[in-house]
Amino acid sequence: MTSAFDLTGKTTLVTGGTRGIGKAMAMALAEAGADIILVQRDGLNTSTCEAIQALGRQCAIVTADLSDAASVSSIVPDLLSRLSSLPNGGIHILLNAAGIQRRRAAHEFLQEDWDEVLQTNLSSVFTLCRTVGNYWLAHKIHGRLINVASLLSFQGGFSVAAYTASKHGVAGITKALSNEWAGSGIGVNAIAPGYIATDMNAELQKDEVRNRQILERIPAQRWGKPEDFKGPVVFLASERASGYVTGETLVVDGGWMAR
Ligand SMILES: NC(=O)c1ccc[n+]([C@@H]2O[C@H](COP(=O)([O-])OP(=O)(O)OC[C@H]3O[C@@H](n4cnc5c(N)ncnc54)[C@H](OP(=O)(O)O)[C@@H]3O)[C@@H](O)[C@H]2O)c1
Repeated sequence: MTSAFDLTGKTTLVTGGTRGIGKAMAMALAEAGADIILVQRDGLNTSTCEAIQALGRQCAIVTADLSDAASVSSIVPDLLSRLSSLPNGGIHILLNAAGIQRRRAAHEFLQEDWDEVLQTNLSSVFTLCRTVGNYWLAHKIHGRLINVASLLSFQGGFSVAAYTASKHGVAGITKALSNEWAGSGIGVNAIAPGYIATDMNAELQKDEVRNRQILERIPAQRWGKPEDFKGPVVFLASERASGYVTGETLVVDGGWMAR
């Protein structure tokens, strides 16, 4: 059964791999055998790439700012223009893990924050899905696409209107793309993290009242860790493990949504 989770020979394009959940997911895919292309805003942070190479896997960094539509639209065409130089000669898995948060009451929410969150968390995800999906369809590749959603793909939250809109959108396009591409053997799924101890939540964890309120609602009685995503992402990245799973948003939240 372990071979069902073997990703040897699969090249994965990953956003958000410098730290937090995306880094743990990239490492898990590499530990399962995948080679990795990291999309980073710059090449300064080489820690994930070096850790992947230390496992004996291939890793490359391509630079793009996901908050800039022009920068995002060139990522995949640039890679496809030099396919033979990519590990395993192609892209087989796409993991969209990058994301940002901006907090402010809805009636005072800044337009520039709205625009940045929607571009980074949703429009860039759709652009990467569309361009990679187009390539998979043209080359009859049974790709696996994994987006990172949120509990705010289902709930409204407070003071996070742009983030909530973006993550509802991520869950929506996950279903829409699955409907169009599952018949061609492409799996399209999302993972929705609960409350995870990363830089994104540093302020929430420091706030004693909010921290206590959050912990009281989590049946597992702890914040999630980036490592909690290693198994779920490998499962969804493997056609043999999850080939009949598509259009799904897998909630990984210590039981929060079941309350
Ligand atoms: N933490 C949670 O509780 C939680 C809950 C639900 C969903 N999520 C989602 O899970 C994903 C990862 O979250 P996290 O908590 O691990 O966040 P994090 O630690 O803040 O990491 C965010 C990642 O996104 C990258 N990124 C942000 N803006 C970018 C840009 N303009 N261009 C390129 N890369 C950019 C960051 O790169 P740099 O290092 O260059 O900044 C970093 O790799 C996000 O999609 C988030 O919305 C998190």
